[in-house]
Amino acid sequence: MKKIAVLVSGGGTNLQALIDAEKRGELGDGRITCVISSKPDAYALKRAKDNFIKTKVLERKAYPDIASYSKAMTETLTEAEADLVVYAGFMTILDEQVCKAFPYKMINVHPALIPSFCGKGYYGLKVHEEALKKGVKITGATVHFVTEECDGGPIILQKAVEVRNGDTPEVLQKRVMEEAEWKILPEAVRLFCDGKIRVENGVTVVDR
Ligand code: GAR
Repeated sequence: MKKIAVLVSGGGTNLQALIDAEKRGELGDGRITCVISSKPDAYALKRAKDNFIKTKVLERKAYPDIASYSKAMTETLTEAEADLVVYAGFMTILDEQVCKAFPYKMINVHPALIPSFCGKGYYGLKVHEEALKKGVKITGATVHFVTEECDGGPIILQKAVEVRNGDTPEVLQKRVMEEAEWKILPEAVRLFCDGKIRVENGVTVVDR
């Protein structure tokens, strides 16, 4: 059994997609064993509790800086004996000590086709606002390993989504979630748990 810790900050629809996939037996031998939130009022916490998953709140505001917050997070994840850490709408950047403690064991879902619309400042709705401003006709989602470089780690899976005339950021966000994020995130978790992802020369090779 592989223990999966999920980091959240908000609504938790990606967490829900993981919970549903696990129930359908689609996470291989992965089990979501804890959910850690950077916000005490995140709706994702209710989703976890409703499914009898252990929760913990590690509030960013309770720590003076990113280093002390990252230290607390590393300790929490180590205590949880996490085999895989999934950032599912986790909006806080952690420093290199977490990446060093869990090398190529942390994955993130990003709501765009990296390297477009990514990096510091690109999160949540903002990503879709920028995609619409630029007028791209195709966007999508990416699941990648978390490294010290924000949104810069090896890409695992990507899925394209069409941008339509009249899209608002909210409408586009919903389409990207439904058509891409909620599919490729559970798939990447299963591939990881099945040992089907390896990193060679800084890029992933995925055996599907
Ligand atoms: C998702 O679209 C996720 O990709 C994005 O925030 C949303 C969280 O929704 N994450 C980022 O932008 C991280 N850079 P959720 O809480 O309903 O899963």
